[in-house]
Amino acid sequence: MNNSHNVETNAPRLFDADIAAQVEKLLERMSLEEKIGQLTQIGGISGFVPGPEPEEIVRRGGAGSVLWLNDPKRFNALQKIAVEESPSKIPLLFALDVIHGYRTIFPTPLAMAASWDPDVPERAQAIAAREARAAGIHWTFAPMIDIARDARWGRIVEGAGEDPYLGAAMAAAQVRGFQGESLGAPDRMLACAKHFAGYGAADGGRDYDPVYLPETLLRNVYFPPFQAALKAGVGTFMSAYMDLNNVPASANRWLLHDVLREEWGFEGFVVSDAFAVANLVTQGFAYNARDAALRALRAGLNMDMASATYLQHGAELVRSGAIAEADIDALVRPILAIKIRMGLFENPYVDESRLEEILSRPEHREEARRAAQRCMVLLRNEGNLLPLSKSLQNVAVIGPVADSMEALEGPWLVFGHQPAAVTILQGIREKLPHAHVTHASGPEIRRDYPSPFDALMETFSGAPRPAPQTPEEAEAAFQAAVETARNADVVIMALGETANMSGEAASRASLDLPGRQEELLKAVVALGKPVALVLVNGRPLSINWAAEHVPAILEAWHPGSEGGRAVADVLFGDVNPGGKLPVTFPRAGSHEPLYYARNITHAPEGSRMYSARYWDGPPTPLFPFGYGLSYTTFAFDNLTVNKPEIKVGEVAIVTVNVTNTGSVAGDEVVQLYIHQRAGSDSRPMRELKGFKRVTLEPGETKTVTFHLGPDELGYWSTSAGEWVQDAATFDLWAGGDSQASLHAELRVME
Ligand code: NOJ
Repeated sequence: MNNSHNVETNAPRLFDADIAAQVEKLLERMSLEEKIGQLTQIGGISGFVPGPEPEEIVRRGGAGSVLWLNDPKRFNALQKIAVEESPSKIPLLFALDVIHGYRTIFPTPLAMAASWDPDVPERAQAIAAREARAAGIHWTFAPMIDIARDARWGRIVEGAGEDPYLGAAMAAAQVRGFQGESLGAPDRMLACAKHFAGYGAADGGRDYDPVYLPETLLRNVYFPPFQAALKAGVGTFMSAYMDLNNVPASANRWLLHDVLREEWGFEGFVVSDAFAVANLVTQGFAYNARDAALRALRAGLNMDMASATYLQHGAELVRSGAIAEADIDALVRPILAIKIRMGLFENPYVDESRLEEILSRPEHREEARRAAQRCMVLLRNEGNLLPLSKSLQNVAVIGPVADSMEALEGPWLVFGHQPAAVTILQGIREKLPHAHVTHASGPEIRRDYPSPFDALMETFSGAPRPAPQTPEEAEAAFQAAVETARNADVVIMALGETANMSGEAASRASLDLPGRQEELLKAVVALGKPVALVLVNGRPLSINWAAEHVPAILEAWHPGSEGGRAVADVLFGDVNPGGKLPVTFPRAGSHEPLYYARNITHAPEGSRMYSARYWDGPPTPLFPFGYGLSYTTFAFDNLTVNKPEIKVGEVAIVTVNVTNTGSVAGDEVVQLYIHQRAGSDSRPMRELKGFKRVTLEPGETKTVTFHLGPDELGYWSTSAGEWVQDAATFDLWAGGDSQASLHAELRVME
């Protein structure tokens, strides 16, 4: 096998003869300064980045793209300058982070991965694209497809979790959702696969910290979602901030050129993360800004986001002979080609009159509710406390995220967005119109250190954040919450994290419930009432006490605009939850990184040498990857391989039966895991290689089929220094989570 395993050249081509000819024609009329301008993305917010006003830069052809603007009028005004006044009249590409919705907010990407249904993010991102495009935004910095195996890392919320196979499926689905059939499809937008690559493996889960990843992990774990995005036709990539094996990703020629262009054949363009080119100096890599520009250009980084380093030094670098103009042309070409494909030369402006109608389409909200329903994961349901009866008369809804629109919508919303979610409290009140539904939020929760983005938002909005509660106020809120619970027949606790507790610059050392939430939970449980816990959070939490003492736990994540309704749908049985964890829940933050696809050691569990990996508590997950319950039960049987032996390169067909053994209809996610017993390298004890979410009526059985061929059985080998497929025996397991026990064997022969 060669190095291009898994990447097929059937990714849609950016260039054809016609596009190439148009690009050359444009290049011929462009000055060197204008070419550097096309490689430059400027911030649209006046005064945010020092330097001339955006209008002035655009007028002289000094920008190919503008980010951090969300105003159709301003887009049209800037575009008019670009296409009428700038020397070569090349339209601007407007970019913004549209991560999980524009006006209609969908569950966070981590939550959408918990649906194990690629249709969910595909439909969500299609709606996000339609809304954002109507506002004049051409290009989103999404999907974020970094594998994250350490839940302390705040940006785990933006990706699909720990697994490359699930991550690849979610990456491709999001690209299809954003871009549609092809670049320039109506009502769709250009997508950006980020952050290339390895950003999720930050040392200690500390955002931005250096990353050290051997090639085996890059190629087997961190690259596959990017390759899947590429195959799905993603037009752009974003280079990551951090050092990758001591070379910043934004100036890493191996990554950006050797792998992305040469091996994978990527034809689109790469944008840096914000200010990353200038930061090559801050990071102790480049000698000065000129050197930073030179090294990023030489690495193959097409577009400089926000730092204006290319703008300042690009032309001089060519004139002094440090870099050839032909190399600059090569970097400009894909940017022009994408603008042509996006139809910007024919239609540079946005029709401002469409926006409000598109944003208020009821089907967008309906889709957000459906998505939220499908993302929820039932973690515990002792004595079948859930679903609750709709004839309950006296319900208390307690907790700091129970009536918070911000917490429901979660982090990373577009600039200027006003939260407009149906909260959990509202959703429950709507579901029980005749019941007495009381509420108390308990003590507020806050980050110990504020987010740098809070400060930024305060500056923009001019509205200072409210002062923190005093200890006395917090105590009074605590007591009020306990009293409210005392007077109810059933208590629904909504606990977790606020929106700014995950996302960028939002890493945590502990994964416990922040603030006094667990204390409040204990006090409420001590009242002896039935308690159901709804978690609203951006990452796994170490809810050990709750997992033993609270009978019902529903993981709702940050479920979006319709989250409160979806939570009520599940709590009261209108929807049977069928989501599964896309990431391991550890018992402590200090156990991270903890993920299921580890290698077997010389002292495996059950062996004479085995001792618990920590002497101060079990190192096992609190809830394993792939886990999630339902209001019904499922049984698996008849795991079979069509032939017990195949040859290297052949495909085995694996089937398994799943039966709904309970009394209500429900969804199960059938998961297939493999383990290679021996080969060129040691391989993980389990790896996901197939999944399918199916709906089953009571008593119904379905047969699910998977394929295991070279793509699933091969891997990049450290010993061989290339892709291999070994002749080896494989264990197969199928079931409803990563600890599935139904087993079969497959032998692969030379
Ligand atoms: C920094 C973030 O790392 C990246 O994900 C985002 O797209 C850019 N800023 C632009 O806002």
